[in-house]
Amino acid sequence: MIYTNDGHTQFHLTNGKISYIIQVMKNGQLAHLYYGRAIRHQNDFSFLQNYRIPMPYSCYPYDDDTGFSLDTLRQEFPGFGHSDFREPAYEMVNTDGHRLTTFVLQSYRIRDGKPPLDGLPATYVENDGEAQTIHFVFASRPAGLRLTLSYTLFSRLPVIARQAQLVNTGTRPVFVDRLMSASVDYPDKAYDMVQFSGAWARERHIKVRPLECGIQSISSIRGSSSHQQNPSIILKRRETTERSGDAYQFMLIYSGNFLAQAEVDQYDNTRVMIGIHPFQFNWRLDPGGRFQTPEALLIFSDRGLGQLTRSLHDVQRRHLIQPQWRQGIRPILINNWEATYFKFNEQKLLKIAEEAQKIGIELFVLDDGWFGKRNNDKTSLGDWWPNLEKLPGGLAQLSRKIRALGLKFGLWFELEMVSPKSELYRKHPDWAVGHPSVARTYGRHQFVLDMTRPEIVNYLFDRVAAIIREAQLAYIKWDMNRSLTDAFSLVTRQGEFYHRYVLGVYRLYDRLTRAFPNVLFESCAGGGGRVDAGLLYYAPQAWASDDTDPVERLKIQYGSSFIYPIYSLGSHISASPNHQTHRETPLALRAQVALFGTFGLELNPSRLGADERRLLKGYTDSYKNHRRLIAEGDFYRLISPFEHDGAAWMVVAKDRTEALIGYYQTLTRPNPPKMTFLKLMGLDAQADYRLDGWPHILGGDELMIVGLPLLKFDKQNRGMTTVPAGDFQSLIFHMKKCNDS
Ligand code: DGJ
Repeated sequence: MIYTNDGHTQFHLTNGKISYIIQVMKNGQLAHLYYGRAIRHQNDFSFLQNYRIPMPYSCYPYDDDTGFSLDTLRQEFPGFGHSDFREPAYEMVNTDGHRLTTFVLQSYRIRDGKPPLDGLPATYVENDGEAQTIHFVFASRPAGLRLTLSYTLFSRLPVIARQAQLVNTGTRPVFVDRLMSASVDYPDKAYDMVQFSGAWARERHIKVRPLECGIQSISSIRGSSSHQQNPSIILKRRETTERSGDAYQFMLIYSGNFLAQAEVDQYDNTRVMIGIHPFQFNWRLDPGGRFQTPEALLIFSDRGLGQLTRSLHDVQRRHLIQPQWRQGIRPILINNWEATYFKFNEQKLLKIAEEAQKIGIELFVLDDGWFGKRNNDKTSLGDWWPNLEKLPGGLAQLSRKIRALGLKFGLWFELEMVSPKSELYRKHPDWAVGHPSVARTYGRHQFVLDMTRPEIVNYLFDRVAAIIREAQLAYIKWDMNRSLTDAFSLVTRQGEFYHRYVLGVYRLYDRLTRAFPNVLFESCAGGGGRVDAGLLYYAPQAWASDDTDPVERLKIQYGSSFIYPIYSLGSHISASPNHQTHRETPLALRAQVALFGTFGLELNPSRLGADERRLLKGYTDSYKNHRRLIAEGDFYRLISPFEHDGAAWMVVAKDRTEALIGYYQTLTRPNPPKMTFLKLMGLDAQADYRLDGWPHILGGDELMIVGLPLLKFDKQNRGMTTVPAGDFQSLIFHMKKCNDS
C-alpha cells in the first residue's frame, strides 16, 4: 500500500512488513525519512528528517535557512554541486560543459502492478495485485531532462524494486557520467557491511567489515559481474545473527560493471548506493533519447540474515525466474567436461551416456570441444558447427542416439568469444573487441566478440537456433571464459561500450529464450564469474564454480545462498581426487553437498566400481524424491563453514510438513563429544516429525530447542551410532511431519 499525506508531500510505502518513507523537500527534491520494519501510517512523518539543525561550516542553498544543507539531509537520489559533498547518485555534463543539473519534482503516479523494463532483465508480476509502483517524475534545472524514479513495493514480501530513467526533453545532447539504480541514506553507521568476494574456483566467500568513515565499496570493471565480487551487499547491525536482528540487502539485477558502496560521512550518516559502475561510463543522450538503469532490489529483515535470505529467494523465485522454470523439476544432468575434457569421440560419449542412464541421469550435456577444429582451448570459438573428426555423424546423430537412451541432450557454447584461430575470425577480424592500432590482450587464448553490434548478435542467434533445431537441444550451457579488455568497438561510443555489451548479451538471451522457451539455459563464466540476478532472469541455472571439491563447495554454496536460491546453482559430483584441489573425499560427502543445488555428475561413471555406481543411483533417486522440496522450500543455514570445520543447512517445506538436513564434518577432532545436537529451524514446534529410517518420533520443538542428535541409525544392530570420527563425514536427514497437534 502506498499512502500519501494530504499535501502530497509525504509518501509511505508499506505492506505490514516494511515501511519506506519519502518526503518532498522545499527545493523540490526528495528526502529519505525512513526505511525498515513496518510502522503504522501517520499523517505527518516530517519529524523523521534532521532538517533545521545548522551545522558548522556547512553550505546551504537558502541564505535565510542555514539549517537546510543537502550535506546533512537524507535524500533519495542525491546530486552534487549544491551543498552535498558526498558521492551523488547521478552526474551529467551539459553541452555547455556544466555538471550542475538538479531535479525538481513535477508529479507522481501510483499504479497497481509493475511495468517491465525495455531490454533489461527485471522482476515482474503476473497480476496487478502482487505489487504497487510509484513513479516520481522530475524536471531538470536547467531544463532539458526528465528523470523518473520508480519504486515497486511487492505486496507479500519485504522487498522494494528501484529504478531510474532519464529522458532528454531538450534540443541538445547531454552526456551521462553516472546514473545509479538506487541510493539510500541511513541516519547512523552502526552496521557491518557483508560482501561476497573471491576468485576463480573460490567464488562468493563471505566477508564482513564494520562501516567506518569514508567510502567502502565493492565493484567490477571486468565487463561482467565477476568471480571477484558479486553485485549485492548487506548492511547488518553488529548484533544481527542468522536468527535475529535487522539487515538490509541491496542487489543489482545486472551482469556487467557495477558499483555497490557505503559512504559514511562526518556526521555518521551512511549513504548506500548501487548501480552501473561510473568508471569509463559516458552515455550520450540525444534529444528524445531515454536511458534506463538496471533494477536494484532492496530487501529488509528484522529477523536476521536467515529471513533476509528467504525473502530474497522468494522474490527471485516468484518474480524473476521465468514461470516455466520456477518449479523444482530440473533434470539431473551429466556433463562430460571433467570426464573427458577435449578428448572424446561419439563412442566414448555414448558409453558415458549409457552408464549415466543406468544410474538415473536425465540429461546428457556435451561440453567444450564439439565444434570447429577444437581439440584444445586455442582454437575454433565462433565456428559453431560440429567437429566431424570427433562426431562423424554430426550432432543430429549423436543427439538421436542419446535420446534413444531416454536422456535429453544439451550442448555447451561460448557465444561471446572468438578464437584468433577460427574461420569466424579469418572472415571477420573486425568483429573482435579492440582498437585496430592497439595490440589485443588475450584471455584463455581468445578474444571477445563485439556484442554491441547487432549483426554479431544476429549471426550468433542464427547459428544457435539452427543447432537447437538440428540437435533437438533441451539445454544450453552458455559459458564466458575471460574478462573484457581493450574495451573498444568500431561502431559504439567508447563510454557506452561496457553497458551496450551487456545489452547485446541480454538481447541474444532474450531472442533465444523467447524462440525456444523450453530450452533450459545454464549460465557459466569460468564457473561462477557471472552468477547474477540479471542472467537468472533468462537462465534459471548458473554453474556455481569450476571448483567441484565438496569441502570448497561448502563455502561456495553457503556464501551463494545469501544471494541466490539454492536450486538455481549447478552442483555436481565429480571424481576423487578432485581435479581442482587434488583432495580425496568420499562419494557420500560429494553427493550430499551436491544434493543442495541443481544436482548432476561431472565424471565418467564407466570408471567407477559397481558399488559406487549403486550408491550414485541411490543419490539420483534421492534427488528425484527431494528436488521439489529443495527448489521450493525455505533454506536455513545452521553451521557456517567460514567459522567451523564443517557446515550444516536445511530446507523446510513452506507448509512445514517436510525437511531435508545436511550436516558435514570436514576435519575430525580427537576424542570428540559423544553426543552432538544440531539445532534445527523452521519446523512446526507443535508437530511431531518422523525421520526416514529412524525408529523414533521427535517433536518439532524438541528438534529446534534441544536439537537433532547427530546419530546414524545402524540397521544391522538396530541401534543408534554416533557420527564416526574422521575427516569428511556427512549425514543427510529427511523428516516428515507425522501429526498435527
Ligand atoms: C569453464 C566452465 O566453467 C567449465 O565447466 C567448462 O565448461 C570449461 N569452461 C570448458 O572450456
